Amino acid sequence: MKNCITLILHWYQEHKRELPWRKDIDPYHIWISEIMLQQTRIEAVIDYYNRFMERVPDIKSLSEISEDELLKLWEGLGYYSRARNLKKAAIHIMEKYDGIFPNHYEDILSLPGIGEYTAGAISSICFQLPHASIDGNVMRVYSRIHNLDIDVRDLKVKKDIKKKIEEILPKESGDFNQGIMELGEVLCLPNGVPKCNECPLKYHCLAHLNGCETLIPRKTSKKEKLEEEYTLFLMKCGKKYALHKREDGLLKNMWEFPNQKGFLTYDEVIEIIPGIQKIELGITNTHIFTHKKWFMNSYYLETNHELSEYQWYTLEEIQESHALPTAFRPFFEYLQKK
Ligand code: ADE
Ligand code: SF4
Repeated sequence: MKNCITLILHWYQEHKRELPWRKDIDPYHIWISEIMLQQTRIEAVIDYYNRFMERVPDIKSLSEISEDELLKLWEGLGYYSRARNLKKAAIHIMEKYDGIFPNHYEDILSLPGIGEYTAGAISSICFQLPHASIDGNVMRVYSRIHNLDIDVRDLKVKKDIKKKIEEILPKESGDFNQGIMELGEVLCLPNGVPKCNECPLKYHCLAHLNGCETLIPRKTSKKEKLEEEYTLFLMKCGKKYALHKREDGLLKNMWEFPNQKGFLTYDEVIEIIPGIQKIELGITNTHIFTHKKWFMNSYYLETNHELSEYQWYTLEEIQESHALPTAFRPFFEYLQKK
């Protein structure tokens, strides 16, 4: 791995993509970009990032922006709690750090919406602190270099890789973290064939030398179905109903009824959804996918305005042009009968 570090750093210097958040190492810029990049592809983020910086150029303006405008800027990126947490964190930075982004790992980690991955990225890129930033790309590249038959979903494995990488991290920790991520994004691809011919690590990477790069890391380890619980919000406002487009994972890009993981109580629903005028328990449904089993509860809600983070359609519009996955069909039929 030692040899690989220098190779990764050189490769990154020469091949790094020009991205709007790579013009400087201002923590505000890096923070916003890293949050946007979670769950979202780089190409999709660029326009959002530029628009965001034009309207919200610094921590102070972020702390003052209205939630409606913030969500509008975020519209289409999904996972809206990311945007709400940004504002919360900005207010926190204004109050606790006089508007200056903190430069200690623990302080960064304690900000709303910032986990180990983002704290590692910001503290290494902006402050050259010795922290690794482990995402799926890094786990894939690391496991291939060492030809490790690991389960990348195992949190223990992730912790272990973080520790191992931090032991050998060069002082250019930010460039290394970005380099290994970038390598995973442009060369050491997850599906299909990695571009080993172009890879600076091709004479060092054990998976490649053994010809088994496509088998590492293991795809799935557990046979049993993962069971998940969801609460669906069947929201009505006037004649229209709220839908949401799934951004990734199972049923990517399909429409769904807004929902949240877990079975929520009345009180929790009332806390989450603003402007509720009426709330009733809806129906339940179980759906079995290839590797997953979903248990779904629902609430029927009437709201006094169309919440901006969802799209609102009449039942006819949904029927005609917004195909719902089978898992959600019974809820649609329930609304039709209601
Ligand atoms: N993906 C997410 N953050 C990244 C970064 N800083 N560099 C390269 N790829 C990334
Ligand atoms: Fe990935 Fe191939 Fe490079 Fe190994 S040689 S790190 S498998 S792209």
